[in-house]
Amino acid sequence: MDDPAGTLQPLRQRVCAARHIVVLTGAGMSAESGIPTFRDALTGMWANVDPMQLASEAGFRANPARVWAWYAERRHGVRAAQPNAGHRALGDFARRLPGRLTVVTQNVDDLHQRAGNTDAIRLHGDILQDRWLDSCPRTMRGSTCDTAFAEPGDPPICAECGNRVRPGVVWFGEALPLDALTAAEQAADACDLMLVVGTSGAVWPAAGLAARARHAGAHVAIVNPEPSDIDADAHQLVRGTAAGVLPPLFAA
Ligand code: OAD
Repeated sequence: MDDPAGTLQPLRQRVCAARHIVVLTGAGMSAESGIPTFRDALTGMWANVDPMQLASEAGFRANPARVWAWYAERRHGVRAAQPNAGHRALGDFARRLPGRLTVVTQNVDDLHQRAGNTDAIRLHGDILQDRWLDSCPRTMRGSTCDTAFAEPGDPPICAECGNRVRPGVVWFGEALPLDALTAAEQAADACDLMLVVGTSGAVWPAAGLAARARHAGAHVAIVNPEPSDIDADAHQLVRGTAAGVLPPLFAA
């Protein structure tokens, strides 16, 4: 284990002994894969653009081409990115010890899935999938969109009724997918160890999962190089990065 100072050893022992672990991840999890976070000063996406213009239904309706282009660019970034050592450590652990780990992510990229956590719970949707903007005969039939290779320009429109295609992510003001949220809450209630990795804890209800797990009796540790809004919910703060801390914690 690459932990010369031995600071991670007690947490590693908890990982080894836990019956069930939940790892809740945010944008910092993918930062070392080259995908920008949202709220980091200077480099965070929300430092440079107005989230209400680019990540809300009203913003999309006001300027669909601009929003579509922004998501198309982010999609290209996600496809070009590779899982980092932190993603791989979690994927390897899940392969080695099936059923011991639930990954709950706020990230809309697919890096956990590509690293092997194929059943990661996605609270905020999937940037590589689209869905219909409005209810229409197609959505009633359960028809899904298949435009993941869309390019910048106007978003595709349904030939039957003119309904627009929109990115399959959760926007500000929208509810989380109920099945994902329920599964995440159940996992938080049932785990004996929760690691919270790379989130500012600014967005709810995801941010409430740490307190929920603690209340249910789990040990809660936060892995983040910076303070977060939910530090007070943790028993332990690990000031490090996802790719630096997770491999020694989850190594065989
Ligand atoms: P934020 O951008 O709010 O927070 C990212 C966190 O990651 C910060 O606390 C950083 O200190 C930390 N961080 C940066 N680099 C790191 C690294 N290498 N290892 C570990 N931590 C690192 O991102 P989220 O908390 O994920 O919503 O934001 C929550 C939601 O707000 C997102 O899911 C997104 C956004 O609006 C949707 O996409 C629906």
